[in-house]
Amino acid sequence: MSYLLHIDASSLGEASVSRQVARSFRDEWQGPVVHRDLAVSPAPHLSAAGITARTTDPAEHTPEQAKALAVQDELIEEFLGADAYLFTVPMYNLTMPSVFKAWLDQIMVAGRTLSHAGPSPVAGRPATVISARGGGYGPGAPKEGLDHLVPTLEHLLGEAILGLDVTIITPELTMAPYVPMLAPLLPMHEASMTKSHDEARRLGSALTGRPAA
Ligand SMILES: Cc1cc2nc3c(=O)[nH]c(=O)nc-3n(C[C@H](O)[C@H](O)[C@H](O)COP(=O)(O)O)c2cc1C
Repeated sequence: MSYLLHIDASSLGEASVSRQVARSFRDEWQGPVVHRDLAVSPAPHLSAAGITARTTDPAEHTPEQAKALAVQDELIEEFLGADAYLFTVPMYNLTMPSVFKAWLDQIMVAGRTLSHAGPSPVAGRPATVISARGGGYGPGAPKEGLDHLVPTLEHLLGEAILGLDVTIITPELTMAPYVPMLAPLLPMHEASMTKSHDEARRLGSALTGRPAA
């Protein structure tokens, strides 16, 4: 039986807004879950041994290459075995936390999870990305256009590469309760939180039991 692969990447534990919104999704999700918390168990950075192992005959692998490949294989098998995905990827310095990038570098492998000549083996599976951010990046915001996280993940996870059916939830202005200068934006933050939890609950319920693509 397949499962929801839930990957957490916020360093903040229980205080993470992304994780709290993910909880709303999980409260409605009825199927089995495999949970990987990258803040607790980070995937190692991709090493030279890991890169070269991908294009070297296994019979010729050095011990370092064999070890690096075993790490990739475990993460890739876990990724391929899921029929739905839930990623919490908060904004750090305008992009994704380095632990999530390290995980992506381990699992994005041509011939395994993606193909340059056709659909990937995970194409069409649903993926929900929850990305809390301290500021606001929507249309008309002073920082509009500076979000280098959502467009990147839409491209990598979505139609262009992995082919997942991606939905993004962005709880915004999470710094408003703590930064006096942002106090006038509190109502916008609160509205964003309500909308994010509602959407997470809706998706958790709607995606449960959806037949695999
Ligand atoms: C290292 C770090 C870098 C951050 N960089 C940004 C940033 O570039 N833009 C922004 O809007 N918020 C930034 N923030 C604020 C976080 O996006 C915000 O606290 C968000 O709620 C984090 O998600 P989480 O609550 O799920 O951990 C940063 C926070 C940290 C810890």
